[in-house]
Amino acid sequence: MNLSVQLAPKHHSGLLLANPVMTASGTFGYGTEHGHLFDIQQLGAIVCKGTTLEPRDGNPQPRLAETACGLLNSIGLQNIGVDALIKEKAPIWTNWRVPVIVNIASETIGGYAQLAGKLDGVAGISAIEVNISCPNIKAGGAEFGANPESAAEVTAAVRSATSLPMLVKLTPNTSDIAKIAMAVAEAGADAISLINAMKGMAIDVTRRRPLLGNIIGGLSGPAIKPVALYMVYEVAGAIEVPVIGCGGITTASDAIEFIMAGASAIQVGTASFTNPRAPLDVLGGIEQFMEKEGINNLTDLIGVARG
Ligand SMILES: Cc1cc2nc3c(=O)[nH]c(=O)nc-3n(C[C@H](O)[C@H](O)[C@H](O)COP(=O)(O)O)c2cc1C
Repeated sequence: MNLSVQLAPKHHSGLLLANPVMTASGTFGYGTEHGHLFDIQQLGAIVCKGTTLEPRDGNPQPRLAETACGLLNSIGLQNIGVDALIKEKAPIWTNWRVPVIVNIASETIGGYAQLAGKLDGVAGISAIEVNISCPNIKAGGAEFGANPESAAEVTAAVRSATSLPMLVKLTPNTSDIAKIAMAVAEAGADAISLINAMKGMAIDVTRRRPLLGNIIGGLSGPAIKPVALYMVYEVAGAIEVPVIGCGGITTASDAIEFIMAGASAIQVGTASFTNPRAPLDVLGGIEQFMEKEGINNLTDLIGVARG
């Protein structure tokens, strides 16, 4: 069976994955923490924790709250910073078979470009995933990904700062996801990942205060799967570049739904917190499904539910 997928068909070196199962940023650290749990080299790709120019401590505690069928988080991009990532993590990744994709975040367009420039040409890094769910300081804190103009501006800035394949990760916190996807594809994205967490909150009734230290958090897990699936379906119908589905994927059946909706690859996020082997289990289940259905090439499944 051939499970390989090309995520950057228009890029000069491409981004070929051995299979479509990736880890979602922020839910699998730097990949280095999981080696004792299973053979992570079997995965399609690892996307590392969101990386910023400077190291960050993140938001005040509490930063996690379970919900019905989901998880609220307000980690606030706690990370080691790009310089430490280049010095300490990338040398480890150079020995890996599995490609590592670095997720980047900034509050300014110049910051995104600087990050992309620093990562360009670093051995061990196969691609960049641009998280545009960050607040745009200049625009009063609205997410870059909330409108087509600022989403395209970030994409173009990163495109001109790096020759690496570039994935752009969309936020669901917008009214027209297809318009944003089209703008980002036009501005040079090689592939589009969606979705990031949805805005949400919880209240501690005893304290009579918001439960999360940051008040607002991001909702992830099975609760958001139908929304993510719908958005993947919409976007895959609107653009030519590959789409990577993410949001509540817990089982192989969830992953196959996204692939049938038009995703070329998928990311497993919150599911890894309850089952650290979830990405590998999802991969095994996809293989079983293909065998049972007599499908030799994964690409034959992409978008089949679109009619
Ligand atoms: C604890 C936590 C941290 C996250 N950190 C990041 C991050 O740094 N960058 C990013 O683009 N997405 C981040 N995400 C979003 C996930 O990558 C993913 O898009 C989202 O959780 C939906 O997928 P899921 O339902 O499978 O978790 C984070 C999610 C969680 C739960």
